Amino acid sequence: MKIDAGRFLEDLDKLRSFGASGVGKGVVRPAYSEADMAARAWLTSRMIEAGLRVQTDAMGNLFGLSEGPSLLLGSHSDSQPEGGWLDGALGVIAALEVARAAREAGGSAVSVVSFQDEEGRFGVTTGSAVWSGHLAQDQADLLCDHSGVALADARRVVASTGAVDPSQFTGFVEMHIEQGPVLDSAGERIGVVSDIVGIRDMKITFEGQQNHAGTTPMHLRKDAFQAVSRFNSELNERLRNVVTPSTVWTVGHVSLHPNASSIVPGRAVFSMQWRDGDAERLGRMEAIIRSLANEIAEGMGMAVSFGPLLGLEPVAMDRGLREALELSAAKHAPDQWRVMPSGALHDATNVSRLMPVAMLFVPSIDGISHAFEEDTDEADLVTGVRVLAEAVASLK
Ligand code: GLV
Ligand code: MN
Ligand code: MN
Repeated sequence: MKIDAGRFLEDLDKLRSFGASGVGKGVVRPAYSEADMAARAWLTSRMIEAGLRVQTDAMGNLFGLSEGPSLLLGSHSDSQPEGGWLDGALGVIAALEVARAAREAGGSAVSVVSFQDEEGRFGVTTGSAVWSGHLAQDQADLLCDHSGVALADARRVVASTGAVDPSQFTGFVEMHIEQGPVLDSAGERIGVVSDIVGIRDMKITFEGQQNHAGTTPMHLRKDAFQAVSRFNSELNERLRNVVTPSTVWTVGHVSLHPNASSIVPGRAVFSMQWRDGDAERLGRMEAIIRSLANEIAEGMGMAVSFGPLLGLEPVAMDRGLREALELSAAKHAPDQWRVMPSGALHDATNVSRLMPVAMLFVPSIDGISHAFEEDTDEADLVTGVRVLAEAVASLK
Protein backbone atom coordinates (compact mmCIF):
# COMPACT_ATOMS: atom_id res chain seq x y z
CA MET A 1 0.00 0.00 0.00
CA LYS A 2 1.14 3.52 -0.72
CA ILE A 3 1.10 6.17 2.02
CA ASP A 4 0.39 9.73 0.87
CA ALA A 5 2.76 11.67 3.13
CA GLY A 6 1.39 15.07 2.06
CA ARG A 7 -2.21 14.11 2.82
CA PHE A 8 -1.18 12.60 6.17
CA LEU A 9 0.78 15.72 7.26
CA GLU A 10 -1.98 18.06 6.08
CA ASP A 11 -4.61 16.22 8.12
CA LEU A 12 -2.35 16.20 11.17
CA ASP A 13 -1.93 19.94 10.84
CA LYS A 14 -5.68 20.46 10.38
CA LEU A 15 -6.42 18.53 13.58
CA ARG A 16 -3.99 20.86 15.39
CA SER A 17 -6.15 23.85 14.39
CA PHE A 18 -8.93 22.65 16.74
CA GLY A 19 -7.97 24.20 20.07
CA ALA A 20 -4.66 25.63 18.80
CA SER A 21 -3.22 27.41 21.84
CA GLY A 22 -1.36 30.14 20.01
CA VAL A 23 1.85 29.09 21.81
CA GLY A 24 4.09 27.12 19.45
CA LYS A 25 2.21 24.12 18.10
CA GLY A 26 0.38 23.47 21.38
CA VAL A 27 -3.30 22.62 21.73
CA VAL A 28 -5.96 22.99 24.43
CA ARG A 29 -8.55 20.32 23.58
CA PRO A 30 -9.72 18.60 26.76
CA ALA A 31 -12.36 15.87 26.54
CA TYR A 32 -15.89 17.14 25.67
CA SER A 33 -14.72 20.76 25.25
CA GLU A 34 -15.98 22.73 22.26
CA ALA A 35 -12.63 22.26 20.51
CA ASP A 36 -12.68 18.51 21.16
CA MET A 37 -16.21 18.11 19.80
CA ALA A 38 -15.40 20.26 16.74
CA ALA A 39 -12.31 18.13 16.08
CA ARG A 40 -14.45 14.98 16.31
CA ALA A 41 -17.00 16.43 13.87
CA TRP A 42 -14.17 17.09 11.39
CA LEU A 43 -12.71 13.61 11.97
CA THR A 44 -16.16 12.17 11.29
CA SER A 45 -16.23 13.84 7.88
CA ARG A 46 -12.72 12.59 7.06
CA MET A 47 -13.72 9.05 8.05
CA ILE A 48 -16.79 9.19 5.81
CA GLU A 49 -14.66 10.48 2.91
CA ALA A 50 -12.35 7.52 3.54
CA GLY A 51 -15.29 5.15 3.00
CA LEU A 52 -15.66 4.24 6.68
CA ARG A 53 -18.97 3.89 8.51
CA VAL A 54 -18.96 6.21 11.51
CA GLN A 55 -20.27 5.21 14.91
CA THR A 56 -19.99 7.12 18.20
CA ASP A 57 -20.70 5.35 21.48
CA ALA A 58 -22.21 6.83 24.63
CA MET A 59 -18.81 7.88 26.01
CA GLY A 60 -18.02 9.70 22.76
CA ASN A 61 -15.47 7.19 21.49
CA LEU A 62 -15.47 7.78 17.71
CA PHE A 63 -15.08 4.80 15.35
CA GLY A 64 -14.67 4.72 11.55
CA LEU A 65 -15.62 1.17 10.68
CA SER A 66 -14.62 -1.02 7.76
CA GLU A 67 -16.99 -3.78 6.67
CA GLY A 68 -16.44 -7.25 8.12
CA PRO A 69 -13.59 -8.27 10.41
CA SER A 70 -10.84 -5.64 10.50
CA LEU A 71 -7.73 -4.51 12.29
CA LEU A 72 -8.39 -1.47 14.51
CA LEU A 73 -5.86 1.39 14.45
CA GLY A 74 -6.01 4.66 16.36
CA SER A 75 -5.46 6.53 19.62
CA HIS A 76 -7.18 9.63 21.07
CA SER A 77 -7.78 13.23 19.98
CA ASP A 78 -8.50 14.89 23.35
CA SER A 79 -5.56 16.73 24.95
CA GLN A 80 -4.20 17.64 28.35
CA PRO A 81 -5.29 21.08 29.69
CA GLU A 82 -1.99 22.29 28.15
CA GLY A 83 -1.13 19.72 25.52
CA GLY A 84 1.04 19.05 22.52
CA TRP A 85 -0.24 18.65 18.96
CA LEU A 86 0.87 15.03 18.52
CA ASP A 87 -0.08 13.21 21.74
CA GLY A 88 -2.90 10.94 20.56
CA ALA A 89 -3.56 12.99 17.39
CA LEU A 90 -0.68 11.29 15.61
CA GLY A 91 -2.11 7.80 16.16
CA VAL A 92 -5.57 8.85 14.96
CA ILE A 93 -4.38 10.54 11.75
CA ALA A 94 -1.84 7.75 11.04
CA ALA A 95 -4.75 5.28 11.38
CA LEU A 96 -6.87 7.32 8.97
CA GLU A 97 -4.05 7.47 6.41
CA VAL A 98 -3.36 3.72 6.65
CA ALA A 99 -7.11 2.96 6.33
CA ARG A 100 -7.27 5.11 3.18
CA ALA A 101 -4.09 3.66 1.70
CA ALA A 102 -5.23 0.10 2.44
CA ARG A 103 -8.56 0.72 0.73
CA GLU A 104 -6.89 2.35 -2.30
CA ALA A 105 -4.58 -0.66 -2.59
CA GLY A 106 -7.50 -3.08 -2.27
CA GLY A 107 -5.74 -4.45 0.82
CA SER A 108 -6.58 -5.33 4.40
CA ALA A 109 -9.72 -3.96 6.07
CA VAL A 110 -8.69 -1.27 8.55
CA SER A 111 -10.95 0.53 11.05
CA VAL A 112 -10.07 3.72 12.91
CA VAL A 113 -10.78 4.95 16.44
CA SER A 114 -10.36 8.13 18.42
CA PHE A 115 -11.01 7.25 22.06
CA GLN A 116 -12.49 9.86 24.40
CA ASP A 117 -10.83 11.27 27.53
CA GLU A 118 -7.58 9.32 27.26
CA GLU A 119 -5.95 12.25 29.04
CA GLY A 120 -8.03 11.64 32.13
CA ARG A 121 -10.08 14.77 32.68
CA PHE A 122 -12.33 12.35 34.58
CA GLY A 123 -9.95 9.60 35.60
CA VAL A 124 -7.49 7.42 33.72
CA THR A 125 -8.06 6.71 29.97
CA THR A 126 -11.80 6.88 30.69
CA GLY A 127 -13.25 6.30 27.19
CA SER A 128 -11.35 3.11 26.42
CA ALA A 129 -11.72 1.98 30.06
CA VAL A 130 -15.52 1.99 29.63
CA TRP A 131 -15.46 0.49 26.10
CA SER A 132 -13.24 -2.38 27.27
CA GLY A 133 -15.38 -3.14 30.31
CA HIS A 134 -12.64 -2.18 32.77
CA LEU A 135 -14.91 0.55 34.17
CA ALA A 136 -18.72 0.36 34.32
CA GLN A 137 -20.53 3.31 32.72
CA ASP A 138 -22.53 4.06 35.89
CA GLN A 139 -19.34 4.14 37.97
CA ALA A 140 -17.57 6.31 35.38
CA ASP A 141 -20.50 8.74 35.36
CA LEU A 142 -19.85 9.55 39.03
CA LEU A 143 -16.28 10.70 38.36
CA CYS A 144 -15.70 14.47 38.58
CA ASP A 145 -13.04 16.67 37.03
CA HIS A 146 -10.99 19.11 39.13
CA SER A 147 -13.69 21.76 38.93
CA GLY A 148 -16.41 19.40 40.14
CA VAL A 149 -18.16 18.67 36.80
CA ALA A 150 -19.42 15.07 36.68
CA LEU A 151 -18.69 12.90 33.64
CA ALA A 152 -22.42 12.14 33.37
CA ASP A 153 -23.02 15.86 32.72
CA ALA A 154 -20.00 16.48 30.50
CA ARG A 155 -20.88 13.66 28.10
CA ARG A 156 -24.35 15.07 27.38
CA VAL A 157 -22.74 16.83 24.38
CA VAL A 158 -22.22 13.41 22.73
CA ALA A 159 -24.75 12.35 20.07
CA SER A 160 -24.34 8.60 20.42
CA THR A 161 -25.19 6.33 17.50
CA GLY A 162 -24.87 3.14 19.54
CA ALA A 163 -22.39 0.74 21.06
CA VAL A 164 -19.52 -0.67 19.01
CA ASP A 165 -19.02 -4.43 19.14
CA PRO A 166 -15.33 -5.21 19.75
CA SER A 167 -15.62 -8.73 18.32
CA GLN A 168 -15.38 -7.34 14.77
CA PHE A 169 -11.74 -6.35 15.37
CA THR A 170 -8.84 -8.78 14.97
CA GLY A 171 -6.37 -6.62 16.91
CA PHE A 172 -5.43 -3.04 17.81
CA VAL A 173 -2.27 -1.14 16.89
CA GLU A 174 -1.60 2.34 18.31
CA MET A 175 1.07 4.63 16.92
CA HIS A 176 2.21 7.37 19.32
CA ILE A 177 5.02 9.76 20.08
CA GLU A 178 7.42 8.39 22.69
CA GLN A 179 6.89 11.36 25.09
CA GLY A 180 10.28 10.67 26.68
CA PRO A 181 13.95 11.17 25.83
CA VAL A 182 15.12 7.66 24.86
CA LEU A 183 14.80 7.62 21.05
CA ASP A 184 15.75 11.28 20.57
CA SER A 185 18.88 11.08 22.67
CA ALA A 186 19.99 7.85 20.97
CA GLY A 187 19.37 9.30 17.48
CA GLU A 188 16.88 6.50 16.74
CA ARG A 189 13.71 6.71 14.64
CA ILE A 190 11.34 3.99 15.85
CA GLY A 191 10.45 2.29 19.13
CA VAL A 192 8.45 -0.94 19.17
CA VAL A 193 6.76 -1.19 22.56
CA SER A 194 7.35 -4.29 24.70
CA ASP A 195 4.96 -3.37 27.54
CA ILE A 196 3.10 -0.47 29.13
CA VAL A 197 3.58 0.45 32.80
CA GLY A 198 0.80 0.33 35.38
CA ILE A 199 -0.63 3.35 37.17
CA ARG A 200 -2.46 4.29 40.36
CA ASP A 201 -4.16 7.64 40.81
CA MET A 202 -6.24 9.08 43.65
CA LYS A 203 -7.25 12.35 45.24
CA ILE A 204 -6.23 12.98 48.86
CA THR A 205 -7.88 15.60 51.06
CA PHE A 206 -6.46 17.21 54.21
CA GLU A 207 -9.13 18.97 56.26
CA GLY A 208 -7.75 21.50 58.79
CA GLN A 209 -9.31 24.72 60.07
CA GLN A 210 -9.92 27.76 57.91
CA ASN A 211 -8.93 30.88 59.83
CA HIS A 212 -7.63 34.45 59.72
CA ALA A 213 -4.09 34.72 58.33
CA GLY A 214 -3.24 37.78 60.45
CA THR A 215 -4.54 36.81 63.87
CA THR A 216 -4.08 33.05 64.10
CA PRO A 217 -0.79 32.28 65.89
CA MET A 218 1.40 29.81 64.02
CA HIS A 219 1.26 27.16 66.75
CA LEU A 220 -2.56 27.18 66.72
CA ARG A 221 -3.01 26.76 62.97
CA LYS A 222 -4.37 23.74 61.18
CA ASP A 223 -3.12 24.76 57.77
CA ALA A 224 -4.07 22.20 55.13
CA PHE A 225 -1.43 23.40 52.70
CA GLN A 226 1.29 22.92 55.33
CA ALA A 227 0.12 19.32 55.50
CA VAL A 228 0.43 18.89 51.72
CA SER A 229 3.90 20.39 51.63
CA ARG A 230 5.05 18.21 54.52
CA PHE A 231 3.60 15.13 52.80
CA ASN A 232 5.26 15.98 49.50
CA SER A 233 8.68 16.58 50.95
CA GLU A 234 8.66 13.44 53.12
CA LEU A 235 7.30 11.11 50.45
CA ASN A 236 10.52 10.72 48.43
CA GLU A 237 12.41 9.54 51.51
CA ARG A 238 9.64 7.09 52.51
CA LEU A 239 9.58 5.56 49.03
CA ARG A 240 13.36 5.32 48.67
CA ASN A 241 13.74 1.63 49.50
CA VAL A 242 10.75 0.49 47.48
CA VAL A 243 11.21 2.20 44.12
CA THR A 244 13.53 1.65 41.14
CA PRO A 245 15.03 4.29 38.80
CA SER A 246 12.07 3.83 36.45
CA THR A 247 9.36 4.26 39.12
CA VAL A 248 7.70 7.70 39.01
CA TRP A 249 5.26 9.60 41.26
CA THR A 250 3.66 13.02 40.89
CA VAL A 251 1.54 15.52 42.80
CA GLY A 252 0.28 17.40 39.73
CA HIS A 253 -2.85 19.17 40.92
CA VAL A 254 -3.45 20.96 44.24
CA SER A 255 -6.61 22.80 45.12
CA LEU A 256 -6.73 24.95 48.26
CA HIS A 257 -9.87 26.16 49.89
CA PRO A 258 -10.73 28.97 49.79
CA ASN A 259 -7.44 29.87 48.02
CA ALA A 260 -7.07 33.43 49.33
CA SER A 261 -3.98 35.34 50.48
CA SER A 262 -5.35 36.28 53.88
CA ILE A 263 -6.95 32.99 54.85
CA VAL A 264 -5.22 30.00 56.42
CA PRO A 265 -6.37 27.25 54.02
CA GLY A 266 -8.83 24.91 55.72
CA ARG A 267 -8.90 22.28 53.04
CA ALA A 268 -6.43 20.97 50.47
CA VAL A 269 -7.29 18.40 47.83
CA PHE A 270 -4.42 17.06 45.72
CA SER A 271 -3.80 14.42 43.07
CA MET A 272 -1.40 11.63 43.92
CA GLN A 273 -0.31 9.52 40.97
CA TRP A 274 2.34 6.79 40.74
CA ARG A 275 3.50 4.45 37.96
CA ASP A 276 5.65 1.36 37.67
CA GLY A 277 5.94 -1.78 35.57
CA ASP A 278 5.42 -4.03 38.64
CA ALA A 279 1.90 -4.25 40.06
CA GLU A 280 3.17 -5.46 43.43
CA ARG A 281 5.41 -2.42 43.80
CA LEU A 282 2.42 -0.18 43.01
CA GLY A 283 0.64 -1.83 45.94
CA ARG A 284 3.55 -1.29 48.33
CA MET A 285 3.73 2.35 47.31
CA GLU A 286 0.02 2.73 48.00
CA ALA A 287 0.48 1.47 51.56
CA ILE A 288 3.30 3.98 52.16
CA ILE A 289 1.31 6.86 50.67
CA ARG A 290 -1.75 6.11 52.82
CA SER A 291 0.20 5.68 56.03
CA LEU A 292 2.28 8.84 55.51
CA ALA A 293 -0.86 10.91 54.87
CA ASN A 294 -2.53 9.44 57.98
CA GLU A 295 0.56 10.10 60.06
CA ILE A 296 0.80 13.74 58.96
CA ALA A 297 -2.90 14.38 59.52
CA GLU A 298 -2.73 12.89 63.00
CA GLY A 299 0.42 14.84 63.89
CA MET A 300 -1.18 18.12 62.79
CA GLY A 301 -4.62 17.45 64.31
CA MET A 302 -6.40 17.24 60.97
CA ALA A 303 -8.62 14.81 59.10
CA VAL A 304 -7.50 13.05 55.94
CA SER A 305 -9.59 11.20 53.38
CA PHE A 306 -8.84 9.30 50.20
CA GLY A 307 -10.84 9.37 46.96
CA PRO A 308 -11.43 6.28 44.81
CA LEU A 309 -8.23 4.53 43.73
CA LEU A 310 -8.13 4.47 39.94
CA GLY A 311 -5.63 2.33 38.11
CA LEU A 312 -4.49 0.18 35.26
CA GLU A 313 -2.27 -2.87 35.45
CA PRO A 314 0.99 -3.19 33.50
CA VAL A 315 0.45 -5.07 30.20
CA ALA A 316 2.69 -6.81 27.67
CA MET A 317 2.17 -6.31 23.92
CA ASP A 318 1.03 -9.19 21.70
CA ARG A 319 3.94 -11.16 20.29
CA GLY A 320 2.56 -11.56 16.72
CA LEU A 321 1.60 -7.90 16.22
CA ARG A 322 4.85 -6.80 17.79
CA GLU A 323 6.88 -8.99 15.42
CA ALA A 324 5.13 -7.43 12.41
CA LEU A 325 6.11 -3.97 13.71
CA GLU A 326 9.69 -5.09 14.39
CA LEU A 327 10.16 -6.48 10.86
CA SER A 328 8.77 -3.29 9.38
CA ALA A 329 10.92 -1.09 11.65
CA ALA A 330 14.06 -3.04 10.66
CA LYS A 331 13.23 -2.37 7.01
CA HIS A 332 12.37 1.35 7.25
CA ALA A 333 14.81 2.37 9.99
CA PRO A 334 17.66 -0.16 9.85
CA ASP A 335 19.88 0.08 12.99
CA GLN A 336 17.79 3.03 14.17
CA TRP A 337 15.04 1.34 16.10
CA ARG A 338 14.67 -0.50 19.38
CA VAL A 339 12.24 -2.45 21.53
CA MET A 340 11.31 -0.40 24.60
CA PRO A 341 8.73 -0.15 27.40
CA SER A 342 6.19 2.69 27.55
CA GLY A 343 6.29 4.87 30.67
CA ALA A 344 3.21 6.75 29.44
CA LEU A 345 -0.26 5.26 29.55
CA HIS A 346 -2.21 4.44 26.44
CA ASP A 347 -5.65 3.25 25.38
CA ALA A 348 -3.90 0.05 24.23
CA THR A 349 -3.77 -1.02 27.90
CA ASN A 350 -7.57 -1.14 28.12
CA VAL A 351 -8.02 -2.58 24.64
CA SER A 352 -5.69 -5.47 25.58
CA ARG A 353 -8.61 -6.87 27.63
CA LEU A 354 -10.47 -7.46 24.36
CA MET A 355 -7.92 -8.34 21.66
CA PRO A 356 -4.20 -8.52 20.85
CA VAL A 357 -2.56 -5.07 20.95
CA ALA A 358 0.75 -3.52 19.94
CA MET A 359 2.31 -0.05 19.86
CA LEU A 360 4.80 1.90 17.83
CA PHE A 361 6.73 5.05 18.89
CA VAL A 362 8.45 7.86 17.04
CA PRO A 363 10.86 10.23 18.85
CA SER A 364 9.82 13.30 20.83
CA ILE A 365 12.24 16.19 20.35
CA ASP A 366 14.14 16.75 23.64
CA GLY A 367 11.77 14.21 25.22
CA ILE A 368 9.14 16.90 25.85
CA SER A 369 5.40 16.09 25.98
CA HIS A 370 2.27 17.19 27.89
CA ALA A 371 3.55 20.70 27.09
CA PHE A 372 3.04 23.16 24.24
CA GLU A 373 6.66 22.57 23.10
CA GLU A 374 5.96 18.91 22.19
CA ASP A 375 7.18 18.14 18.63
CA THR A 376 8.65 15.49 16.32
CA ASP A 377 10.63 15.86 13.07
CA GLU A 378 8.38 15.57 10.02
CA ALA A 379 10.64 12.88 8.58
CA ASP A 380 10.12 10.77 11.72
CA LEU A 381 6.34 11.20 11.55
CA VAL A 382 6.38 9.90 7.98
CA THR A 383 8.76 7.02 8.77
CA GLY A 384 6.43 6.02 11.60
CA VAL A 385 3.33 5.89 9.41
CA ARG A 386 5.23 3.87 6.78
CA VAL A 387 6.34 1.38 9.43
CA LEU A 388 2.74 1.09 10.58
CA ALA A 389 1.41 0.65 7.02
CA GLU A 390 3.87 -2.05 6.13
CA ALA A 391 3.21 -3.95 9.36
CA VAL A 392 -0.55 -3.78 8.66
CA ALA A 393 -0.05 -5.01 5.08
CA SER A 394 2.03 -7.95 6.36
CA LEU A 395 -0.82 -9.02 8.67
CA LYS A 396 -3.24 -9.45 5.78
C1 GLV B 1 -1.31 9.69 29.27
O1 GLV B 1 -1.33 10.73 28.66
C2 GLV B 1 -0.46 9.54 30.40
O2 GLV B 1 -0.71 10.27 31.38
O3 GLV B 1 0.48 8.76 30.34
MN1 MN C 1 -1.53 9.93 24.38
MN1 MN D 1 -1.10 12.28 27.03
